[in-house]
Amino acid sequence: MITPRPSAAMVATLAIISALLTSSSVSAQDTPTPYDCAKVSVSGNSYDISALKKTYLVKGEATPVYPNKQRVDYIVNPCQAIVVPDGEAKQHCVAGAWVCQDTKVIFDDGEPKTLSLLPIAGTAPAADGVPAREVAPLAVLADKIENVAEVPWNLTLKGGLIKGQDQSAVITFICDTSVTDDNLAPTLTGYQNGVATFSWKHKSACAVHTQLPVQESMSGFSVFLTVFFSFAFIYLVLGAVYNHQVYGAKGLDLLPHKDFWRDFPSLVVDVVHHVWDSVTGRARGGGYVSV
Ligand SMILES: *[C@@H]1O[C@H](CO)[C@@H](O)[C@H](O)[C@H]1NC(C)=O
Repeated sequence: MITPRPSAAMVATLAIISALLTSSSVSAQDTPTPYDCAKVSVSGNSYDISALKKTYLVKGEATPVYPNKQRVDYIVNPCQAIVVPDGEAKQHCVAGAWVCQDTKVIFDDGEPKTLSLLPIAGTAPAADGVPAREVAPLAVLADKIENVAEVPWNLTLKGGLIKGQDQSAVITFICDTSVTDDNLAPTLTGYQNGVATFSWKHKSACAVHTQLPVQESMSGFSVFLTVFFSFAFIYLVLGAVYNHQVYGAKGLDLLPHKDFWRDFPSLVVDVVHHVWDSVTGRARGGGYVSV
């Protein structure tokens, strides 16, 4: 009477369940995504600053440095390395810079002249005993500002060790739906201890409201379906095994609780009828009850 089939069915069931579980856990796993200007995620919020994927010139104030004046400008791209036009390498920071500090001397007469170009943030391979530099963009929520609807966020771009000091740029993005001009440069707020700070009021600094909740409820629903069908499958297989082992059932008799499930449709119809009758009966003013 005892055959090896029940254990084979058990093994198959377990294999299917574990396959379902692993496939759902693999798809739920989040993999670290590379920095993407169109999808910057900060504490569950998503930001799209791809409209600002440009080269911005942030002009500094001229300060007197005897016998001339000096001005420190910044060239900034918050999304990628600054694109240097052909043949202009000498007027720009080394390739791979995202934020470039351009110190100029301004003469009373004649063109301003660049004194030094410092890559405040950017990526560069190791060279001449200087270790490799990695821009490693990192976005975090910043401190709330009065009269600003959304909490601002900071984007930190690293520059690595230059002249004995770690260089970096911190851009504070402040949501302002009234600023839609993509050509408006950020504002320099300071340069201290190798950190250049900027603030950037723009519409793109506002969180993107995606359809994420819908996707989440869909995945919740698919989890429910998976669990439901897994249980239904286990119920059928174990019930069939039990009926086979205990009663030696064959064919349709293998179905667990066969009598109950055979009566189930008429049971449902009965219940629906009952509900229908009471609802429509009440709608007609309960005329049947008084008979
Ligand atoms: C964000 O940047 C501003 C300006 O540099 C700084 O004062 C603030 O501490 C930063 N906040 C965070 C949380 O990094």
